[in-house]
Amino acid sequence: MTHVVVVGSGIAGITAALHAQAAGCEVTLVTKRGLADANTTCAQGGIAAVTDASDDVELHLRDTLAAGAGAGDAAAVRVLVTEAPARVSELVAAGVAFDRDDHGALARGLEAAHSRARVLHAGGDATGRAIENALLARLRESDVRVLEHAFLVDLVVGAGRVTGVELLIAGCRGILPADAVVLATGGAGQLYARTTNPAVATGDGIAAAIRAGAAVADLEFVQFHPTVLVGTAEATAGFPPDGGAAGTPFLISEAVRGEGAVIVDEDGRRFLYDTHRDGELAPRDVVARAIAARMADQGGRPVLLDARALGPLTLGERFPTIDAVVRERGWDWSREPVPISPAAHYLMGGVRTDLDGRTSLPGLYAAGETACTGVHGANRLASNSLLEAAVFGARAGAAAAGDTARAWPAALGGQAVATDRVDTDTPAGPDAPTFSRTALQHLMWADAGLQRDAAGLRRAAATLAAWAATPREPRTVGELEDENLLVLARAVVAAASTRLTSLGAHHRTDEAALLVEAR
Ligand code: SIN
Repeated sequence: MTHVVVVGSGIAGITAALHAQAAGCEVTLVTKRGLADANTTCAQGGIAAVTDASDDVELHLRDTLAAGAGAGDAAAVRVLVTEAPARVSELVAAGVAFDRDDHGALARGLEAAHSRARVLHAGGDATGRAIENALLARLRESDVRVLEHAFLVDLVVGAGRVTGVELLIAGCRGILPADAVVLATGGAGQLYARTTNPAVATGDGIAAAIRAGAAVADLEFVQFHPTVLVGTAEATAGFPPDGGAAGTPFLISEAVRGEGAVIVDEDGRRFLYDTHRDGELAPRDVVARAIAARMADQGGRPVLLDARALGPLTLGERFPTIDAVVRERGWDWSREPVPISPAAHYLMGGVRTDLDGRTSLPGLYAAGETACTGVHGANRLASNSLLEAAVFGARAGAAAAGDTARAWPAALGGQAVATDRVDTDTPAGPDAPTFSRTALQHLMWADAGLQRDAAGLRRAAATLAAWAATPREPRTVGELEDENLLVLARAVVAAASTRLTSLGAHHRTDEAALLVEAR
């Protein structure tokens, strides 16, 4: 029987595993920590889908492409939006109790850059947790074999095809053979000093795919979420400009703005209409950059999210998780605005796949944030991430189950990473910091973050190259994760260095100068 190994236990991984098993395969799901330690569990806002006659998949398609700055793949987006209702029904059947309105219909929230309210949510702002719990229950009822605390060290490649995975379990390395491998290890928010992502988001699958020579694409497009609470009311010094944080950053969902919260500067002025006609509900990249610019004008001090108009009842009922954390940190946000800053949130790029999750490497599939299906273009539309993971996780699982005997299709777009071609003419210098995860995160925040320019990217590339050239022997999970972050940081910087003009989430502050130079 065909054996499919799925790496990752978020919505993409579990969906892929269940669909591969439904297609008649033997399936093993491996995950580096416990099953529920996935970024999916943290998702607040919800899952976007057309579920009501007042909406239309053509509008969802148009909004997705527009938010992606026109860089999305229209064929992939069409698959995303047309298969969304079926995947939502599957989640409901799995037991996800999406919130309902007074008439029993699915409650639909509005989020930035959506032309209709179409974001389904559960437990108010606990959508990811509700989905993860329901899928885990399904997984436990299934025959999928689960290996927890099993870290993906590398892909095993033989005769031009992926033939298994090398795992680190309880300090021992071993090989698990597979006819097909689906990577669903999530994104890499841990590349940055300030991120909404949990500690597990270290890009392990993408890094392993890069080492194995699989094509990747769009890695320069890193989404920064605009509204992240940092620190506590007592320690609001949690906003140093280098991205360092006095407290763990905590996401305040875009849905809060969808319900009417506004963003003001320290003088109490709403400034987002200066940049975009949709103000607080403009695409995420636009809002994040405008906030960063305003913070810079204010000497690095945070801007404020003012949710007072929603009142304590709505805040508590519609956003119970956020309400509890904001209050725990010392603010009564029904009475006072709270300080916020952008933070790294989502990687639009990843391992290049076709519409069935196939990568450029035979036997290897990818789904969810690990993959680059092209649906997000240069900037993801809010609440399309859980959706992408559900739609393309299902497709990847089914394809992995059925494809192994067939010829691998012709080449995909994207390319293998070639960090050696990146210009690093600025030497790393004697004062370059020694390699550590924290040093890497601060470097990426400063030089490859919300705003980029050639000098910063060259500086980052030089330091990363020097770190990569230093011999190390990673043994522990933490050390292996650090190496993965280094591989990915180099790939992100390489991609950002070659895109000389701004597009979506990739913003070059020096593009005017570069265009003059190029003439
Ligand atoms: C949010 O709730 O604002 C995040 C949802 C998303 O990233 O799409």
